[in-house]
Amino acid sequence: MRVLHVVGARPNFMKAAPVYRAVARAGFEQVLVHTGQHYDAQMSDVFFQTLEIPAPDESLNVGSGSHAQQTAAIMSKFEPVVLARKPDVVLVYGDVNSTVAAALVCAKLGIRVAHVEAGLRSFDREMPEEINRLVTDQLSDLLFTPSPDGNENLKREGVPDEKVFLVGNVMIDTLIQFLPKAEELFGGLKQKLSLDRFGLVTLHRPSNVDDEVVFLPMLSALDELSRDLPLIFPVHPRTRDRWSQQLKHCNPNLRTVEPLGYLEFLALQKHASVVVTDSGGIQEETTYLGTPCLTLRENTERPITITAGTNVLIGRDWKLLREEFAKALNGRRKQGGEIPLWDGHASDRIAEILSRFGNPRV
Ligand code: UD1
Repeated sequence: MRVLHVVGARPNFMKAAPVYRAVARAGFEQVLVHTGQHYDAQMSDVFFQTLEIPAPDESLNVGSGSHAQQTAAIMSKFEPVVLARKPDVVLVYGDVNSTVAAALVCAKLGIRVAHVEAGLRSFDREMPEEINRLVTDQLSDLLFTPSPDGNENLKREGVPDEKVFLVGNVMIDTLIQFLPKAEELFGGLKQKLSLDRFGLVTLHRPSNVDDEVVFLPMLSALDELSRDLPLIFPVHPRTRDRWSQQLKHCNPNLRTVEPLGYLEFLALQKHASVVVTDSGGIQEETTYLGTPCLTLRENTERPITITAGTNVLIGRDWKLLREEFAKALNGRRKQGGEIPLWDGHASDRIAEILSRFGNPRV
C-alpha cells in the first residue's frame, strides 16, 4: 500500500510526524507532500528538523494569499502530484487550508482520503477552520477522531459509523515523545530569557488580530497582566506584520520574541504558570501538561479541554481574564484530569487501521 501525507502549515507537522513513523513501522510505502502554506524557516523548516520528519518528496511552494487563492493554488499544484504518485490513501491533518484543498482534489479523483483529527466542531462558521473541518469530514473515507465529541458530531452530520475511528490525539504522541528533550533544553532557555516565574502568550486568529477594535484592548489587557507576571509572547508573522509598532510600545515585561521551535515552546508551556492563547493545539497540549490555559475565544472545537482539562474560555471578558489569571498565580487554578487515548499511541492505532484497509481498495 502507498500512503501519501499532505502537510502545509505549522500545526500539521507535529500531527503528521508520529503517523509517518507509525506507517513506516507498518512497512508501507510513503510519500510526503508539503504544500508550502507556511514557508518561513521558523514556521516550517525547524519543525522538520526537530520532529525528525524526512524532507518532503514534493514541495508545492504555494505561499500566502487569500483563502480562495491559497486553496486554489494548492488544488491545482497537488492534482498532478497525486495523479503521478498514485497513492492508495491520502492522509490529511487538522483544519488548515491545505487539508481541505487536498481532500477536495482526492474526492474528485476517487482517491481515498483519511482525515486525522476529524469531527472537531466549534459551531462557528465565521472561523475559516470550521469550514475546512466540515468539508474535509464530508469528503473523507476514513475519519480518525481524537475524542468522543468528534464521533458524536460526525454521527449527527450523518457520517456512517463504519468510517469513523476514535484513535486519540496524535499531537499528544509527539508531545510525549519529545517532552524529555524539551526538558533538557529548559535550563538553558531559562537562563537565556532570564526567566523565573512567567506566563506564555500566543495570538494569531484573524478574529483576534485583524481588527484594531479587538486587538488593541486585548494587547492592553495583556500589557497590564504582565506587570504581575512576565509574559513571553512569540509573535506569529500575521500578528507581527500588522502590529509591530504597537508591540514595541508595550511594557518590557510583555516580551515579544520570534516564533519558537517545537522543543522550546513545549518547554515553556510545561513550566509556564499560565498560558493565554487563541490556538487550538495549545489548548490540548496545556491540558495534557496540566498547565492552566486561558483561551481568548468565544468557543472551542476542543470542548474536552474544558470539561476534562485545564482550559477556560475567556472570550473578550477582560474582568474574567484578570480573575482567572490571578487564580492561576495564587494556586487556585483549574485542575484537569487524564483524557482517555491521549496516551502516545494514537498513531499506532491509525497505522493498524490503515493496515486493515490495505490493498485492494475497500
Ligand atoms: C494557518 C491556519 C490556522 C493555524 C495557523 C497556525 C488556515 C485557514 N489557517 O493560519 O488554522 O492555526 O496556520 O499558524 O489554514 N506568514 C508568513 N510566513 C509563513 C506563513 C504565514 O509570513 O511561513 C504570514 C503571511 O503574511 C500570511 C499570514 O501569515 O499571509 C497568514 O498565513 P496563512 O497560512 O494564510 O494562515 P495562518 O494565519 O498562519
